[in-house]
Parts: sequence; structure tokens; C-alpha cells
Amino acid sequence: MSSYVRRKTPGNTDWFVHDRFGMFIHFGLYALPARHEWIKTREKISEEKYQKYFDNFNPDLFDAKEWARQAKEAGMKYAVLTTKHHEGFCLFDSQYTDYKVTNTPYGKDIVREYADAFREAGLHVGFYYSLIDWHHPHFPIDRLHPRRDDEDAEQQDKGRDMKIYAEYMRNQVRELLTNYGKIDVLWFDFSYSTKPGETPYKPWMQFGGGKGKDQWEAEELIKTARELQPEIMIDNRTEIDQDLWTPEQYQPMSWIRHKETGELVTWEACQTFSGSWGYYRDEMSWKSPKMLIDMLINTVSIGGNFLMNVGPTSRGYFDHRAEDALKVYNNWMKYNSRSIYGCTMAEPEFVAPRGTRLTQSEDGKRLYIHLIEYPYAFLEMNNMAGKIDYAQFLHDGSEILFTEGKSGHFSEGATTGDNMVFFKLPQTQPPVIDPVIEIILK
Ligand code: GLC
Repeated sequence: MSSYVRRKTPGNTDWFVHDRFGMFIHFGLYALPARHEWIKTREKISEEKYQKYFDNFNPDLFDAKEWARQAKEAGMKYAVLTTKHHEGFCLFDSQYTDYKVTNTPYGKDIVREYADAFREAGLHVGFYYSLIDWHHPHFPIDRLHPRRDDEDAEQQDKGRDMKIYAEYMRNQVRELLTNYGKIDVLWFDFSYSTKPGETPYKPWMQFGGGKGKDQWEAEELIKTARELQPEIMIDNRTEIDQDLWTPEQYQPMSWIRHKETGELVTWEACQTFSGSWGYYRDEMSWKSPKMLIDMLINTVSIGGNFLMNVGPTSRGYFDHRAEDALKVYNNWMKYNSRSIYGCTMAEPEFVAPRGTRLTQSEDGKRLYIHLIEYPYAFLEMNNMAGKIDYAQFLHDGSEILFTEGKSGHFSEGATTGDNMVFFKLPQTQPPVIDPVIEIILK
């Protein structure tokens, strides 16, 4: 069994650390301008101009079952959909606002269609819910708000009552966790509280122009969620640690630990195919197929989950670039998912040879060597002699022969030793990204 003990938290994380791989979905009005999900504040778009996107929101090609099919085929076991992003537009039929999908030309509850379709496909269902809301009349104008530099911003902000907005969030979280069945993950985003001594963006801004757990009334918000769905996993972006740590758009180099106790935590790296979470037509920094696979392997090799994002078009489908990227995962996971599902960081006795990443099954019986840099003909691994019952390539189940102590190729000297194992590999890389050696341990 894995010797790694994760920090105990209120939610049920067992299924999560087994399934490892999920789909993030950023969908909203921002898909129409198609220039990033922060477009409203980046371009300080007026309410009147942004209303055009609401009035024209009609994802006529949206098919939740098709989204679920592509996620499942890519090997993803759960999904997290933006039920409301920073723009404040609700993809669900909320009774607390008119700024919702059921009032657009589309007219139907997308969150319902998503939850039903993904659950039917056997995937766990997660909701992203933005703490930030650039539409709500009681969300105080702050340093991120689209209206922050309006001439009359201070006047606009008068009367905005954060407590009314905090109650609005509790009411909507209650709707989301009551009306859509069992929800497995609640993904809040994000806090930016004003630090002591920090100069406010504008002197008149409430709370110094930032917002954090006190403004969200985060304790009450979390309590509301847990009363409704006690097993739900909640992330840490309210500024109150819960079940999930969420490094974003970077690859940690070691298993994330709790900043006070040093305990290993349950964590998930969230990343994008390109430089944007929302659909961004002209954004060209799409990751290569190898990068996509490397990132998944890197993450699981240090005990993390991997949440890869898709930003659907405003017509409601995944564009060809996203579809092609999902097919890369499909092609790799079809043959290699055994090194991901139910796996975690390898035990300390196993040291990854140069250019490889290791994962190990939770039951300790199987070790996986991911050949990130394909070695010529041999792979040597120290401290492995006597531990291997059988070795094979995972993608085609073909045996990998190995010798112990020496390679028999004039390898005398520093690189030999009784504990060394030499795996004999094809001189050229098999037709698979990051080939995996599966080792059945004695
Ligand atoms: C950042 C982005 C936000 C995105 C989130 C996903 O907070 O600002 O747009 O939804 O990352 O983790």
C-alpha cells in the first residue's frame, strides 16, 4: 500500500485521487467576443455593450451528451463546469437573478443538461462558482471590476452592500446543491483580499479594493454547502482551506504540503490547452501533444490530479483545436491509463532514472516508468535488482527484457552495480508519446 498519508479534510476525496483526470469547462457570454473570459474587465466593456452578448447567447449546437462523450473518451473521469463566472451570468435557472441562461434566446438550463449528461456517462459532476461578480448591483466596484476607472465609479459604488451580495451567493449555492442531484466538487474562484499596508486601487474602494473570506462570508458559504451535501469536495480559493489545493497554470515539482502542518494535501493542477480558459479564437499558444501528456504524467507522479480546460465556442461545441487535443488524450489513455488511474507518487525507494517519471499503484504492486525522454536501447535503474517479477510496455503489452548487475555492453564502471537493472528497449521509440514500462513488482 502507498505509504503517503494525505491531510484529512471534510469532503470525500477517495474517488478523486483514484480518478486523477478531469475536464474543466469555461462557458459563458465571454464565448461570443471570443477574446478571453476576462474580456469585460480587460476592455472595460460597458454594461450596455456587454448586454449584446446576453441578447445573442444561443448555443444552438450545444449537446451536453457530446461534451460528456468527448470527456469520457479522453479518459477524464470528472468535470467542473462554470455555473457562473466573473461576468455574473448564470448558466442555471436561478430564482435570484434575471441574468441567467433561461432568459436568453437559448432559454434552457445548461447546468441541468450538463449535470444529467455527465452523470449518465458515469463521470463525477463538479460546479465552478465565481465569488467575483461584475454584474451584481451589490458587488462593490474593486480593483478588478470593469467599472473601476469609470469617471463616476465612486458614485456607482455608493449603496453597494457586500452583505447583500454574500447572501446572494449563499442562496445560489443552495440552489446549485439542491436542484441538480449529487454534486462531487464545488470549485470557488477566487480571493484577492487587500494585504495590510497595501495601497487601495482607489481610496474610496470598499475593503481597500480587494475581497477575501470576510467579504464572501466564506464560513457561512461553506457551511451552507456542507449542510446540503456533506461529502462534497470544496477548494481553497475562498481563503479557507477545505479539501482541495488548486495550483493553476504551472507544474509543481513536488507534492504540495499544508503551509502550517507540512502534511501532504489533496491537490489538483488546473491548466488550459492554450492561453485562455474561455474560448479565444485568435489565441495561438496551443500546447503540443507531448506537452499535454507530459503535464498529466508530471502531475500524477507527485500525487496530484490534473484538470484540463476546454472553452466551448458560443455555438456550444468544442472547436477543432480542443477536439484534436482531447483526441491526443484519448489515444494515450486508451493504452496507458493503468499508470494514471489508482496511481500516485512512487514510494521513496524507487528513484526515477534520468528523463523518466514514476507512478505506482495505490496497492503498491505495480510501478510505472514513463519514458519522457526516450533512452537509446537501454534504461538503467538503480536499486531495482531482485524486485521485478515482470516488465512490459504498457501500450502493447510486449515484454521488456532486463538484466541485473550489468548490461553486458561494456558498461563496466560507475554505472554498474549489483543493485542495477538494465531494461533492454527498442532502439527507436515505439509509436506512442511517453511510452510506459509497467513493472509487476515481486
Ligand atoms: C483564474 C482566472 C479565471 C479562471 C480560473 C480557473 O482565476 O482568472 O478566469 O476561471 O483561473 O482556475
